[in-house]
Amino acid sequence: MRAVVQHGTGGPDVLRVEDRPEPTRGPGEVLVRTEAVGVPFYETQLRSGLIPAGPPGVFGHEAAGIVLDADDLDIRGKRVVTMSYTGGAYAEVVAASHYTLVPDELTPEVAVAAAVPASVALGLMAAADVKAGETVLVEAASGAIGGYLVRLAERQGARVVTTAGNDEADIDHRDPDWRQRVPHGIDVVFESIGGPRAAELTAKLAPYGRILAYGSLSGEFPVYPVTGLIARGLTLIGFGGPDAYGKRVAAGRAEALGLVADGTLTPVIDRTYPLADAAAAHVRVESREGVGKVVLIP
Ligand SMILES: NC(=O)c1ccc[n+]([C@@H]2O[C@H](COP(=O)([O-])OP(=O)(O)OC[C@H]3O[C@@H](n4cnc5c(N)ncnc54)[C@H](OP(=O)(O)O)[C@@H]3O)[C@@H](O)[C@H]2O)c1
Repeated sequence: MRAVVQHGTGGPDVLRVEDRPEPTRGPGEVLVRTEAVGVPFYETQLRSGLIPAGPPGVFGHEAAGIVLDADDLDIRGKRVVTMSYTGGAYAEVVAASHYTLVPDELTPEVAVAAAVPASVALGLMAAADVKAGETVLVEAASGAIGGYLVRLAERQGARVVTTAGNDEADIDHRDPDWRQRVPHGIDVVFESIGGPRAAELTAKLAPYGRILAYGSLSGEFPVYPVTGLIARGLTLIGFGGPDAYGKRVAAGRAEALGLVADGTLTPVIDRTYPLADAAAAHVRVESREGVGKVVLIP
């Protein structure tokens, strides 16, 4: 099969197309012929070495496709979306332990654009316990998770303030001083940019405000002085990890796909590329010129 293999860490050219033997599935895993593969931002950080790389070999984590083989005979021939925490998704065939059935009305591109980021957004909303009438700050609202957070928070009756690297958001986060322009009285911050200046947002929070720290788009994790949290009873929630919120997120993938199927959530696809052009897809994601999900087509 054709697959994209990572050769060390560095620029997009460390991703190379090769012929590889098809994987075999272990107990409980599904073997899937891929139709669409997602390219989330964190994979560019894994590839570059900015965040610790996973095991060497076939790259990629998120795919949608048709089940070739599974313990459950009933799902053979059906479309699923898979999450492979140990890699292997940038390939014509993937073996994965985490999978979710895709509703008939969704294309593989839409399924892969929704399953992981929309389930992360659902998990974040639940962890933040956003209530009607609260004010919510969504950072990087132009990204996949950010876009779903905006929709879910609005549906909850919250007032939403957005940041993005364009003129359409309430605040343009390309300005290094953007946090100074955030209004006071924010109840919930969905914090994905990180870096040392993230702590400036604590001054903008209402009493009992919550910070959901879940990403490091800037390349650095946020740092919060505890003294800044005490005075107004703020709560800092670190969201992620396979043993905590990761389980809740995985359980939410079917709900996420259902919300797309019923029209509540609308995935945005930026561009599709042939699998062989995975390096070009990474260039596109890193360029930050698009809005929505970049998808590879095997
Ligand atoms: N904790 C968890 O469970 C979990 C799970 C999945 C992902 N994540 C994290 O969630 C974050 C968002 O993921 P995603 O899949 O939604 O990403 P995505 O769809 O690829 O979008 C990323 C967005 O980030 C913005 N961005 C990129 N570099 C930035 C920078 N230096 N400063 C500010 N904004 C920047 C870009 O927006 P502009 O071009 O408009 O600036 C882009 O639209 C990532 O940090 C990822 O690692 C966390």
